[in-house]
Amino acid sequence: MEAAKRIEQLKKLLNEFAHRYYVLDEPIVSDGEYDRLFQELTTLEDAYPALVTDDSPTRRVGGAPLDKFEQVEHRIPMLSLENAFSDEDLEQFSEKLQRFLNQPIATGFSAEPKLDGLAVELVYRRGSFVTGSTRGDGVTGENISAQLKTIHSIPLKLIGNVPYLLEVRGEVFMEKHGFDRLNRSQLAKSLQPFANPRNAAAGSLRQLDPAVTAERPLRFFAYGISDPESSNRGSQTELLQYLKRCGFPVCPYNSFCADISEVVTHYQTLAGLRHNLPYDIDGMVVKIDEFVLQDRLGVKARAPRWAIARKFPATQATTTLLDVDFQVGRTGAITPVALLDPVILDGATVSRATLHNQDEFQRKDLQIGDTVLVQRAGDVIPEVVKPIREKRNGSETPIIMPSRCPACESELVRPENEAVTRCINLQCPAQQLRGLIHYCSKAGLDIEGLGKKYIEQLYELGLIKTIPDIYTLTREILAHLDGWGDKSADNVLAAVSQAKEPPLSTFLAALGIRYIGEVNATLLEDHFGSLANLAGATMEELLDIDGIGDQAAQSLIKYFNDPEIVIMLEKLGATGVVSGIAERGDSKLPLSDVVIVFTGSLIQLSRDEAKKLVKENGGHIASSITKKVTHIVAGEKAGSKLRKAQEAGKTILTEEAFLHMINPV
Ligand code: IVH
Repeated sequence: MEAAKRIEQLKKLLNEFAHRYYVLDEPIVSDGEYDRLFQELTTLEDAYPALVTDDSPTRRVGGAPLDKFEQVEHRIPMLSLENAFSDEDLEQFSEKLQRFLNQPIATGFSAEPKLDGLAVELVYRRGSFVTGSTRGDGVTGENISAQLKTIHSIPLKLIGNVPYLLEVRGEVFMEKHGFDRLNRSQLAKSLQPFANPRNAAAGSLRQLDPAVTAERPLRFFAYGISDPESSNRGSQTELLQYLKRCGFPVCPYNSFCADISEVVTHYQTLAGLRHNLPYDIDGMVVKIDEFVLQDRLGVKARAPRWAIARKFPATQATTTLLDVDFQVGRTGAITPVALLDPVILDGATVSRATLHNQDEFQRKDLQIGDTVLVQRAGDVIPEVVKPIREKRNGSETPIIMPSRCPACESELVRPENEAVTRCINLQCPAQQLRGLIHYCSKAGLDIEGLGKKYIEQLYELGLIKTIPDIYTLTREILAHLDGWGDKSADNVLAAVSQAKEPPLSTFLAALGIRYIGEVNATLLEDHFGSLANLAGATMEELLDIDGIGDQAAQSLIKYFNDPEIVIMLEKLGATGVVSGIAERGDSKLPLSDVVIVFTGSLIQLSRDEAKKLVKENGGHIASSITKKVTHIVAGEKAGSKLRKAQEAGKTILTEEAFLHMINPV
């Protein structure tokens, strides 16, 4: 019985802590304390499985994957809304209602942001969460209880005395910040990114495996219940207060408006706030506040008479496609970017829009000089939808994918079956700059004060070129730059020195190695523990790790064998940024300062063995004869590389001589 009591106590505490943290944003215990209690509960529940209840916080983690989603009928249909597109529409809405009621609306309106996510219904019995479903067609939705449970801001147990049955309705959405992070991780895993936060939220909720949903940064706001009349509250405003007291998160920008002119003002406020909100909204919902009046007004076909959605103005516009710029990304991906005659969309000037890749602009049949339809997809990324072909006059010219990198001139490649064209020169300046920006960004080491703008400035001035240069910056250099001063210089230097010795996974993700995002970086850290171990890994060792695929392994091998990278990492090791790098450059090892190229076939060793030996002995491998190369090991049938090495005056070794270098007897 003791156990049962403690379990109840722990559930109560943990639910309370989660509510404070996720709903009220006012944590009252440390993460460590929360984890300790959570662990205690897990242990007790493991020992007494019969005492596990569905509303236990331990049930949030996911549960078993489903085969399909079950259908659920909503006890009361979930309606949609009619739209208003102007202030006049809002005034007409109010006038029509007054005529219908034959009285002025003296009790006001509730004006709420129209959250751009997915409508869901959460069913609570005796204050415990039982089922949750999508809106579906309004009458029948899909049972996504397990998925919804993983969202921490959805309470599993309600606070206070609640009716036997409570069906709460609201919106599940993803914050813009979480959306960006998710898309970065999708890209790092070579998965298709989501077009906008709404799609990402929908895609995340419709995962048959709730464990996947659990990893997605979803949030929830409640905005109503199925049958307001039965709530003992007189109005929407009171209901929203009540829902908050029950433990539900409610949007803080909901506002009671005494009359329609206040509604119009609130709309303007929201329109101004919109781009600064952490989540997307696509308009404002206006509801008659008083439930008695709502009831009298009733519903039309599919939408209530008592509410209307005031939509933000159309997010599409037409403009001219002036030219196409080809951008080089951090991993060398070439992205065609449309340069547009500036046009205002959602209050923001749009002069560039992504064309994604070659297939995309060809599929859309876009030409330079075209009049094009542009839109802001998901509120953030402007996109070219299509050309307006009727407006062509013959002066348009085709968009041509370049064959050489616009930044470094090296030949671009487009692997078969891939949509992306790439610059594969790891020393490409455009990639370097993007790499530096990434390294300092939140996705990397999060060095405060070294944002994009400043890195570009330092890069252009030649003050930083590769990552180690960041650690050589001094107060003397920084304080005298345009836009800098003693204080900002000191702040940046402090942030830089604070970023030393990051966890290996953070460091790896910061390096921006292709296919190595947060997830893979963590796998690698767990397996290798140190950079030195990882850098010496063979293809087989890498592929042995659960979760590391062919592409990631190949990318790592290529990265750690690139002589420039090797030197870069060595320099980083010398600055003390990452522990475990410097050891490799240990001058006591027989091959330190040696960069070797192998050519021809070896007799006693396989290529991989030979490479491994070089690394173990502190040396480095290169694949072609460059300035950095010191030695060449020529096996049988050595070809042009040998000749080149001779011409360049490099030390030529036989396989025997190489082995002797490592193991002098
Ligand atoms: S009330 C009968 N309030 O808008 C009232 N809906 O077309 C119906 N939405 O799919 C819903 N924010 O997901 C209401 N504060 C809010 C809302 C909201 C977003 C969505 C909802 C629904 C659509 C209505």
